[in-house]
Amino acid sequence: MINSFIATLCFGLIVIQGLCEECSLSKINIGTERSGREIQGKPEWNVTVINNCSCAQSQIQLSCKGFQTAEAIDPSVLSMEGDTCTLIDGNPLQPLASVHFSYAWDPPFLLLPVHSVIADCS
Ligand SMILES: *[C@@H]1O[C@H](CO)[C@@H](O)[C@H](O)[C@H]1NC(C)=O
Ligand SMILES: *[C@@H]1O[C@H](CO)[C@@H](O)[C@H](O)[C@H]1NC(C)=O
Repeated sequence: MINSFIATLCFGLIVIQGLCEECSLSKINIGTERSGREIQGKPEWNVTVINNCSCAQSQIQLSCKGFQTAEAIDPSVLSMEGDTCTLIDGNPLQPLASVHFSYAWDPPFLLLPVHSVIADCS
């Protein structure tokens, strides 16, 4: 009786942990493609950030060392502070939801997720 309770409890924990393991910073996918436009003589790039996991992630930050753009980016979408950029004011990005922004520079930057807080997976 007690053993089966403990077994159930452990199984439950494993399942929850398993779900949470699927959700990590690496599940934030960043795709960059050329838009075909030029802004002030610099190619424009469309960036799509997707939360590819089953839990919301908030406080998403990207490394953007040296990031520059000839095209203004709405700070409520991406705000720059030193070498780090904050996505959507740190608000949660829902499962499979995406955020788009465009910038113009030559060459494009390699933007990588460096931080996020994964919401309760239960
Ligand atoms: C790039 O983004 C702009 C603005 O959102 C959009 O109008 C355009 O269709 C996009 N281009 C590509 C190739 O995705
Ligand atoms: C999301 O994750 C699934 C499973 O890991 C993968 O097959 C798929 O290509 C990912 N999607 C994107 C947009 O990266």
